[in-house]
Amino acid sequence: MHTVLVLGGYGHFGAKICRALADEPEIRLLIAGRRLIKAQRFAVELGLSARRGLYLDAGSPSLSGELQSLGVDTLIHAAGPFQGQDHPVARACIEAGCNYIDLADNRDFVASISQLNISARVADILVTSGASSSPALSAAVVGHFLPEFSRLESIHHTSVASARTPGLASLQTALSYCGKAFKRPQEGRLQTVFGWQSLHSRIYPQSVGKRWLANCDSPDLVLFPQHYADVKTVTCQAGLSNPVLQLAIWALSWPGRWGWLKNPAVFAKPLRWLGLWLESLGSTDSAMHMTLIGLDLNGQPLTRTWHLLVSNHQGPQIPCGAVIALTRRLIRGDAVPKGAMPCIGLLTLEEYLSALSELEIIQLLN
Ligand SMILES: NC(=O)c1ccc[n+]([C@@H]2O[C@H](COP(=O)([O-])OP(=O)(O)OC[C@H]3O[C@@H](n4cnc5c(N)ncnc54)[C@H](OP(=O)(O)O)[C@@H]3O)[C@@H](O)[C@H]2O)c1
Repeated sequence: MHTVLVLGGYGHFGAKICRALADEPEIRLLIAGRRLIKAQRFAVELGLSARRGLYLDAGSPSLSGELQSLGVDTLIHAAGPFQGQDHPVARACIEAGCNYIDLADNRDFVASISQLNISARVADILVTSGASSSPALSAAVVGHFLPEFSRLESIHHTSVASARTPGLASLQTALSYCGKAFKRPQEGRLQTVFGWQSLHSRIYPQSVGKRWLANCDSPDLVLFPQHYADVKTVTCQAGLSNPVLQLAIWALSWPGRWGWLKNPAVFAKPLRWLGLWLESLGSTDSAMHMTLIGLDLNGQPLTRTWHLLVSNHQGPQIPCGAVIALTRRLIRGDAVPKGAMPCIGLLTLEEYLSALSELEIIQLLN
């Protein structure tokens, strides 16, 4: 048996990961967070013993000892927000000798995981950050098309959510850069843009239709130019299903930009209530899109576009694909790299999506 502990296991994304892994016969699943009763209730809901629900604080100084005494083989860290942390959970995993996979989407947190590379190699474990839509899935899409390019110059990434309201940590992360300046590569130079501004619309295929988009900070913006030598431009935009919510975040971005609002994340709770209240009015469709621009193998201009469309509020399952695929690979004993690294190039697009095979996913490739 392979013991998998999901930290934040009854949260919005953690719970989806637990549901996907609970029935795996080779997994002894442990569900952890700072509310024991909630963890135990969720364990029972999944058909497990209540003892599989645990109290565990990501900030505990004795975390590594606790992981060792629980016999954890792989820890999945879904207890965001991750920004501003110096990888305490990954460090505890290295000390305890268990694999570590997180869903982080903060650029500095994901990029700086490599500083643990030597100690993770010595411990002979996998430590990877950003095992989610960005950068794991976006990099898998780039990896899929890369052989068609002699020179890949620009990567554009957008995603739009269904009306299903994400967890508090997701909203805290999204609001943390609301109105704040951040850099993105534009034709080889660093351009300053402002979080959740530059509001514009884009038409997605099929029932997704017209959606509003705004600037989104993402690990892709810093990692892609490092990983793909010729890439000079990377953009990332995101949108919500309900225009009222999108406009509320856009309105909040102005006091954030003018410096009047030091910590926009304090609005995560009221925004979450608003999202839950408006949920029935929004769309059930989500989409992710990527456009890759460069030169083909004959030196001619080439543009490749990829869309992933998901309906019936199944979109929030998409960020969970990397964790599920990597955990299954670890259980099977398949080769995984040892060391600490952002989750780029660890999964092919096929592997990522096969972890979500129960979803009705439409992929469009042009
Ligand atoms: N990379 C990507 O593309 C991507 C995509 C989606 C989501 N994400 C990230 O995934 C993270 C989770 O999002 P979510 O929507 O699932 O949030 P959520 O519903 O708020 O879940 C967070 C969970 O972590 C637990 N938690 C919080 N602090 C903890 C601590 N110190 N120790 C132990 N458990 C703790 C919470 O329970 P208690 O408060 O009861 O402890 C809760 O169960 C976010 O940071 C989000 O940014 C990344």
